[in-house]
Amino acid sequence: MNIPLHVAIIMDGNGRWASIQEKKRIYGHYIGSLVIDKIASKAKKLGVKYLTLYAFSTENWKRPKSEVNFLMSLLAIQIRKKINFMMRENIKFNYLGDIAKLPQKQQEAILESKEKTKNNHELTLNLAINYGSYMEILQACKKMCAEYYSTKSIVNEPNEQLFEHYLYTKGMPNVDLLIRTGGEKRISNFLLWQIAYAEIIFLDKYWPEFNEDDFEDCTKEFGERKRRFGGIDD
Ligand code: IPE
Ligand code: IPE
Ligand code: MG
Repeated sequence: MNIPLHVAIIMDGNGRWASIQEKKRIYGHYIGSLVIDKIASKAKKLGVKYLTLYAFSTENWKRPKSEVNFLMSLLAIQIRKKINFMMRENIKFNYLGDIAKLPQKQQEAILESKEKTKNNHELTLNLAINYGSYMEILQACKKMCAEYYSTKSIVNEPNEQLFEHYLYTKGMPNVDLLIRTGGEKRISNFLLWQIAYAEIIFLDKYWPEFNEDDFEDCTKEFGERKRRFGGIDD
């Protein structure tokens, strides 16, 4: 079977799922955070090499302060908690986004997790935290142009390959499969460059109820799709 090398997921629907259970939105975030381990293990078993999960966008700061605060504490607690799991499963932790804007405790948890798991190699788990594509692409443009204009060197001459060097996903393949749970059919400022040729699956299921079988079904659907990249079938 044709397995996607890089899968990205917009983990959406925590709040609505909780409301249906007559619980607070934050309960949905908590249950949603527990789903990550199961999906990461499954992805690894299936042969996926990069799993990129959207945890907090640059736009999510607009939410009520109480929800943002809860998400921040959940982030630090879960990232620390998952270190043992990632060591056991040989998973390398990485983050995408501007973590300098996060509280100190959260930054420490992220950096510690990255450092401790740096030699693991079966799956890279990218957590997108304070991530937004507009920001990512703009900072990449700025850095690429600054280096080119300061050196005027032919090796720094802007092109697609060089541009990817300045993205958070530097050195990783672009996304093969993008999944969004929660029923919305939009991208919400996620990996705009990296999904240029991704296959996309929108699911109605809310993230807290997404499971290993759903993930496997998505990879099967991916395997059945014909990717032409602008060409024509053989
Ligand atoms: C996704 O679930 C998690 C984050 C954005 C942090 P939501 O919180 O967006 O849940 P819904 O979409 O409101 O149901
Ligand atoms: C996208 O979900 C961000 C994450 C899943 C972290 P949102 O719920 O924030 O996106 P919109 O507001 O529906 O576009
Ligand atoms: Mg949402």
